[in-house]
Amino acid sequence: MPAPALRSKLFVDGGDAAESRRIRDRLGRLDGQTTNPSLVAANPAIKERLQRGQKLTRKEAWAFYRELVGSIAEVTSGPISIEVYADPTTTAADMLEQARELWTWIPNGVIKFPTTSPGLEAASTAVREGMRVNMTLCFSQEQAAAVYAATRGTHQTAFVSPFVGRLDDRGENGMQLIENILRMYQAGDGHVEVLTASVRNLSHLLYAIALGSPLITVPAKVLDAWTDQGYPVPDTRFRYDPGALKPIPYRETALDRPFASYDARHELTDVGLRKFAENWNDILSDVPAAARPR
Ligand code: E4P
Repeated sequence: MPAPALRSKLFVDGGDAAESRRIRDRLGRLDGQTTNPSLVAANPAIKERLQRGQKLTRKEAWAFYRELVGSIAEVTSGPISIEVYADPTTTAADMLEQARELWTWIPNGVIKFPTTSPGLEAASTAVREGMRVNMTLCFSQEQAAAVYAATRGTHQTAFVSPFVGRLDDRGENGMQLIENILRMYQAGDGHVEVLTASVRNLSHLLYAIALGSPLITVPAKVLDAWTDQGYPVPDTRFRYDPGALKPIPYRETALDRPFASYDARHELTDVGLRKFAENWNDILSDVPAAARPR
């Protein structure tokens, strides 16, 4: 049975083209895909190589990523997010140079930058150069306002990816960040779409659908659970239960300031950046110790 039509577009959050194909065939469609360095490093072919004791050179790893993204593009013609490598020392110029290369890989690519000062700077140039961007590791309303400001004037819709599950992990109601950003963006011109990310369970998925998040990226196991249950769709009676999670209050935030004036720092962004870099560097045979994130 195919998945029902929804206002939200559903992406697979993964790093394995075979998995994306399986999900597309199960749901009857796939609206797009997000990848990240940890997900690519966990691809079954990479894991198998590592088990044989064969790490990849940086060149091989990027060639693998390119091939993977090409295979996913055979499964969906929707947006496919490809993430730049960034650790705490990566500059905006470094990210931009990578982005220009990644942008040539597939026609439906979207370049993923971290929501950090250098990431925002790189994205603001990237959109002026005509690239489509997805700002990842977003954990606060202020960061989402910075994304709005940095991508103002883009000719293509930009995405912002607030990470629900990682806020939940530390006891905060991640879904409330989605509510807050959607509310804040109502005062905007619609050039940024919320891509609900770090979805961990069916309740996250259903609430994101209920809120009308335009985009939701979902791990295969959660999409499988949704399919197994016959595609429940939230109706007006749907209530999300945050349990004991701490509320994240809404803050009035103007969207018309220069992007650098917003406070784009968040502890979880820093932790997430280091983790992505660590997972990527772990598959490499030629990472100088100095290039490893501190
Ligand atoms: C999506 O773009 C993100 O990379 C992803 O949703 C992160 O999810 P996680 O917090 O489960 O790693």
